[in-house]
Amino acid sequence: MGMSLTFVGALVLVILIQAKGQPGFISIDCGAEPGVNYTEPSLHINYVSDANFINTGVRGTITSEETSTHTQRQLWRLRSFPEGKRNCYKISVTRGSKYLIRTSFLYGNYDGRNISPQFDILLGANLWATVTIKNASITQFNEIIHVPSLDFVQICLVNTGNGTPFITVIELRTLKNDIYVTESGSLEYYLRCDLGSNTAHRYSDDAYDRFWRTCDLEDWTQLSASISDDSFSENDYKPGATIMNTAVTPTNSSAPLVLRWEPEDPTEQFYVYMHFAEIQLLTTNQTRQFNISQNAESGWLQNYSPQYQSVLTIYTSSPISGKEIKYSVVRTETSSLPPIINAIEIYTVKEFQQSDTFQTDVNAITSIKSVYAVTRDWEGDPCAPLAYLWNGLSCSYHGIESPRITTLNLSSSGLQGKIDPSISNLTMLEILDLSNNSLNGEIPDFLSQLQHLKILNMEKNNLSGLIPPALNKSSLLLRVDQNPYLCEADQCNMKKNKKSNSIVAPIVASVGGVLILLVVVAAILWTAKRRKAKALMLRKDQSAISPQHTDQNDSSLQFQKKIYSYSDIIKITNNFTRIVGKGGFGTVYLGYIQDTPVAVKMLSPSSVRGYQQFQAEVKLLMTVHHKNLTSLVGYCNEGTNKGLVYEYMENGNLQEHLSGKQSKTSFLSWEKRLRIAVDAASGLEYLQNGCKPPIFHRDVKSTNILLNEHLHAKLSDFGLSKFILTEGGTDVSTVIAGTLGYLDPEYYLTGRLTEKSDVYSFGVVLLEIITGQPVIAKNEEKGHISEWVRSVIGKGDINAIVDSRLDGEFDSNSVWKAVEIATACVSPISNRRPSISVVVSELKESLSLATEVVGTKDRSNGTSNSAKRVAMNLNTESLPQAR
Ligand SMILES: *[C@@H]1O[C@H](CO)[C@@H](O)[C@H](O)[C@H]1NC(C)=O
Ligand SMILES: *[C@@H]1O[C@H](CO)[C@@H](O)[C@H](O)[C@H]1NC(C)=O
Ligand SMILES: *[C@@H]1O[C@H](CO)[C@@H](O)[C@H](O)[C@H]1NC(C)=O
Ligand SMILES: *[C@@H]1O[C@H](CO)[C@@H](O)[C@H](O)[C@H]1NC(C)=O
Ligand SMILES: *[C@@H]1O[C@H](CO)[C@@H](O)[C@H](O)[C@H]1NC(C)=O
Ligand SMILES: *[C@@H]1O[C@H](CO)[C@@H](O)[C@H](O)[C@H]1NC(C)=O
Ligand SMILES: *[C@@H]1O[C@H](CO)[C@@H](O)[C@H](O)[C@H]1NC(C)=O
Ligand SMILES: *[C@@H]1O[C@H](CO)[C@@H](O)[C@H](O)[C@H]1NC(C)=O
Ligand SMILES: *[C@@H]1O[C@H](CO)[C@@H](O)[C@H](O)[C@H]1NC(C)=O
Ligand SMILES: *[C@@H]1O[C@H](CO)[C@@H](O)[C@H](O)[C@H]1NC(C)=O
Repeated sequence: MGMSLTFVGALVLVILIQAKGQPGFISIDCGAEPGVNYTEPSLHINYVSDANFINTGVRGTITSEETSTHTQRQLWRLRSFPEGKRNCYKISVTRGSKYLIRTSFLYGNYDGRNISPQFDILLGANLWATVTIKNASITQFNEIIHVPSLDFVQICLVNTGNGTPFITVIELRTLKNDIYVTESGSLEYYLRCDLGSNTAHRYSDDAYDRFWRTCDLEDWTQLSASISDDSFSENDYKPGATIMNTAVTPTNSSAPLVLRWEPEDPTEQFYVYMHFAEIQLLTTNQTRQFNISQNAESGWLQNYSPQYQSVLTIYTSSPISGKEIKYSVVRTETSSLPPIINAIEIYTVKEFQQSDTFQTDVNAITSIKSVYAVTRDWEGDPCAPLAYLWNGLSCSYHGIESPRITTLNLSSSGLQGKIDPSISNLTMLEILDLSNNSLNGEIPDFLSQLQHLKILNMEKNNLSGLIPPALNKSSLLLRVDQNPYLCEADQCNMKKNKKSNSIVAPIVASVGGVLILLVVVAAILWTAKRRKAKALMLRKDQSAISPQHTDQNDSSLQFQKKIYSYSDIIKITNNFTRIVGKGGFGTVYLGYIQDTPVAVKMLSPSSVRGYQQFQAEVKLLMTVHHKNLTSLVGYCNEGTNKGLVYEYMENGNLQEHLSGKQSKTSFLSWEKRLRIAVDAASGLEYLQNGCKPPIFHRDVKSTNILLNEHLHAKLSDFGLSKFILTEGGTDVSTVIAGTLGYLDPEYYLTGRLTEKSDVYSFGVVLLEIITGQPVIAKNEEKGHISEWVRSVIGKGDINAIVDSRLDGEFDSNSVWKAVEIATACVSPISNRRPSISVVVSELKESLSLATEVVGTKDRSNGTSNSAKRVAMNLNTESLPQAR
């Protein structure tokens, strides 16, 4: 039953693919009549008009002489862009998939001016290439292998003042994700040769429609065969039987085959793919065997014999660069035949540094553009490249993070209609200027929810109704003059349109009601500790002089940080024999590199959000060093095999110790607990204050605090949740990352992550350290650890709070102080949480109280007495309020 169903499914799939022509192909004939859809007979490729991908530009046709020499129809038409600086095609793709993207240009004197224009092309937010038309009669192309990070790609033509940009063809071909893998960046076409062939090839000889050209040298002899597609055993690179059927061999049969080139820029990075297959039937006493050397490195490939009718692709797994790049294919001593090579591909690495603008912002601004029919030159990515920033916008740029729109200035732009709700999605907006337009309707309430908004100018419009009272706040400069129908609260009950408000008002009121209730509860919870919290801040200011950053790298790992292949990882982990941990993102294995233990975290393929993002984030994380952060020593990024190699932490995670899963011998005393807390807080402080841009951990919890052999603590997994879906996070679109129980309630409400979100999570960890209780109790009465601690704090009995397993072995002042810090950290209102630097210095004070007592205890042999004595010595102002 199941089998027959599967079979039917497979059949349907086959039929669908055949109907579509070329699966995974997008072939656009630029400048063709709208609606045109045809199959180019000589290529069997289906082309469609570009009308659905662009709104700007002018359609053109090459001269009739040119159409007679260029017989393929997709080359006859083109689209040129006499207007606007940047004009863009927007093409839907599958984000995270690998594509070969090719743009072709045939000038063909379409404008009768016989000139050679030069212009730039952009791929999304990045410069892709400068196109220089060298010969009006020759089709030029630019080709790149690229993984889009958004669900569309924008190909933009930029007028640089050297002639009108134009484009003839755009082609996208879906590739398998695990071929053409790079350590970083995209691959730009440099050369692709079908060796031994006298004709160029593309689809359908090549399943991926790569362009293969002829490239032969005098001292090479051509070999050819006529093996059919069916007889060839292909690999994932699928060079195709037609391409593999020809090969070259040295004319002097004892000489090597040499492939060499001199890059213009010796730092340019290359990836090389060589395809081999034996195409001659060898007799039993014939052998063909060779070695390949790469530059001076002689053992690049050794004693290799190509198999008959079977493709082998040899490639560089790391980029190669230099003044000269040279591959020599050398016949071995035992070989009776000279070496051969069938095809070669050479690419250069193209690093696209600039991230595309945050997708929600792009969607919002695109909607605003269409609602108001904005006639400005708004094309392509709104924020990037900076040189082409949309007129009227400004954006924030933070390293590799996506730019965000911070200013929208549409003053004097002839806007009509209502204020568009899409503006509410520009959540980072600081300046909104809509003055001197013809906007009407009411001022929407959502404007007051733009938390970062500082200037809101709506002067000189025809807005009406009530100004939302929530817009009257000190943080916002509001300008609404010269709107004759606008009125302030209480003055305009008469004018207000009651009908439209009658439904909205109760909803707003009830939503507002909940929020107010929350705030009131939080305020009550807080008042008890408020005075104290001020004192906490004050003391921080005094102690802030001491430097907090101990930026030394005490890592015992001597080996180089590096990129590991999947086969390296298999070796390191001895084929994944020892599992030391499991999480939502995958499994952690014990491994060894030169006898040094390491923890290898293999990410489950479904958990990684973006291929390029992974690479970029991991490279950033490898640069972070601090004694309280686990060092990332390397990573593996081969297709779906993604792994992170960390220093190994012998004593597991904090939670195991607190929950008693670790052996009793490692039971944590109060002092040890505080040291761990100081360590973890210091690590967090370094991420926030010592890194540029600051790194939000996003997932601070006791299982992410690891202990080494000396029980020194290090934070792990920082920065990962950015590209990894955490436990339970199955919905890719959700922006909330983190672990239940540790998650900042404000982040949950607003979706806005701040450095105080990590402080909240750390506060929860601190409560665990103090109480030894689980974060969310099984028994309903206790609920969340912070609720429970708040409820027992009032009793003033430290023994009711502190972990009973400590058996009274602690200094109560020290514990009270820790409780006070922890409860401040878990304040529901982020502004009231202390900064992480304050947390570190307060915890250090708490630690000094604890250690002082140990000294006293040794002399007096009594904890409780000594605790009292110490308390007596303390200034009353610094006594914890919590009592
Ligand atoms: C073009 O025509 C083919 C075959 O008729 C069809 O499968 C395809 O969907 C059409 N493409 C577009 C974009 O209309
Ligand atoms: C342009 O290319 C054509 C065809 O290859 C060639 O005949 C012609 O001489 C070239 N023109 C120039 C100006 O190089
Ligand atoms: C053929 O190549 C070998 C090795 O490179 C060389 O020693 C020999 O002189 C070459 N023969 C001819 C005829 O060029
Ligand atoms: C192969 O071996 C046979 C006999 O063993 C011999 O006659 C023939 O010439 C050899 N062929 C080559 C190419 O060496
Ligand atoms: C080919 O490689 C093998 C193995 O390293 C080596 O023994 C042999 O000398 C090499 N042959 C040539 C011609 O370089
Ligand atoms: C918006 O742009 C106009 C003119 O382009 C300028 O006069 C005005 O100051 C800008 N508004 C803000 C808030 O910068
Ligand atoms: C207001 O906009 C109009 C056109 O929409 C323009 O002519 C005028 O100069 C603008 N006034 C100011 C003060 O910017
Ligand atoms: C805001 O963005 C969300 C998610 O992208 C979208 O669902 C919603 O429709 C947008 N809101 C408006 C008013 O456009
Ligand atoms: C301004 O809005 C009022 C209603 O709010 C309307 O009666 C009037 O015609 C509008 N004026 C212009 C110039 O659009
Ligand atoms: C804004 O709020 C302040 C104080 O909250 C109040 O005095 C003032 O009247 C308000 N202004 C408006 C226009 O409502």
